[in-house]
Amino acid sequence: MKQYDLETVIRRVGLGSGKWDEIQKILGYTPEDVIPFSVADMEFVLAPEISEGLQNYLKNCVLGYAQPTEEYKEAVKGWLSRRHGWNIETDWIRDTPGVINAFFTAVKAFTKEGEGVMLMTPVYYPMYFAVSRHNRKLVENKLVRTGDTYEIDFDDFEAKAKDPNTKLLILCSPHNPSGRVWRREELERIGRICMDNHVLVVSDEIHFDLISPGYKHIVFASICEEFAMNSITCTAPSKTFNLAGLQTANIIIPNPELRERFYDEQKKDDGNPKCNILGLEACKIAYTECEDWLEQVLTVIERNRQIITDFIKKEFPQIQIMKLEGTYLLWMDFNGLGIECHELAKILKEEAYLFFDEGFIFGESGEGFERWNLACPTRYIEEGLKRLKNTLHNHI
Ligand SMILES: Cc1ncc(COP(=O)(O)O)c(C=O)c1O
Repeated sequence: MKQYDLETVIRRVGLGSGKWDEIQKILGYTPEDVIPFSVADMEFVLAPEISEGLQNYLKNCVLGYAQPTEEYKEAVKGWLSRRHGWNIETDWIRDTPGVINAFFTAVKAFTKEGEGVMLMTPVYYPMYFAVSRHNRKLVENKLVRTGDTYEIDFDDFEAKAKDPNTKLLILCSPHNPSGRVWRREELERIGRICMDNHVLVVSDEIHFDLISPGYKHIVFASICEEFAMNSITCTAPSKTFNLAGLQTANIIIPNPELRERFYDEQKKDDGNPKCNILGLEACKIAYTECEDWLEQVLTVIERNRQIITDFIKKEFPQIQIMKLEGTYLLWMDFNGLGIECHELAKILKEEAYLFFDEGFIFGESGEGFERWNLACPTRYIEEGLKRLKNTLHNHI
């Protein structure tokens, strides 16, 4: 198999990357061996198939308005079928300039002001904004921490779904930040409760290709026809192939009525947002030519996870690492150190030069956690661990 370059880092200082800018802003400079471990994009260079493919494409194209071609849709269908065992129809695909855009649209299309939208918390913070910014009611189903993982409190879930005011669930699957990949029986139970109580499921599956060894992602809508008809599945190549800047997502809506309402809302409120023409091309290339690149990236992520886990177990048993079943975002509980969470963030950034996403941005139950992005060359992880050790020993 071709070996890809997963060692080179393009230092995005001054190139418009918010997470790199944060280092510069806080430290006043960006030290050579420091990279950010925060926002969920990767520090790997693009798969060469994509960079070369886009360069060739640019030689012969007009950058006018664009819509997904048949070839593009076949690439999306092929990916979902090959990688996820889900066979979809071409006309179920709606393109949007991102998954956040899609769940914002869904909240507006399928709920009214004051109606309840359920989230399983702590969760990816823009999901809270989708609720609050549209004056919907936040219905919180708190995940239950059990040792190094989280479980769903189904009694609470069912009670909240039964409230006739609860109209929609934004399911995060795999779950960011907990790292859970929901088991089939969990998804079946979620789906059944939502069916019985007329709660629509918007399933954000953006991390669905990033699954740890030994786990399997199941597309919620692929479980049965009833679930497919009561759901909207948000997918994108952006996490898998590091294409977030190209703003391209594929929203799969098998139910024609829901699809129409979603489309009407897109046209009404957001001026009919379109995908980026280069994003469509990049997605097509990624889904048809880049599986080997992804496999090698997954190997590095798993190695990074193992290195951190071994190190922390030995050096800082007070820090608990939550089991990483999916995503490349390691959820780590620092509460055992007894350092207040804002103070901890300050120490990590200003003394250890460790730029994580602080747990508290994911909700109250994330306080004292840090989320470590593992999608980078291993040497940066090792460097980061050294700095963590040197710094924390001064504080505990
Ligand atoms: C669960 C989840 N959904 C959506 C997004 C962002 O999607 P997009 O960039 O397509 O709007 C992220 C990014 O980290 C995410 O973790």
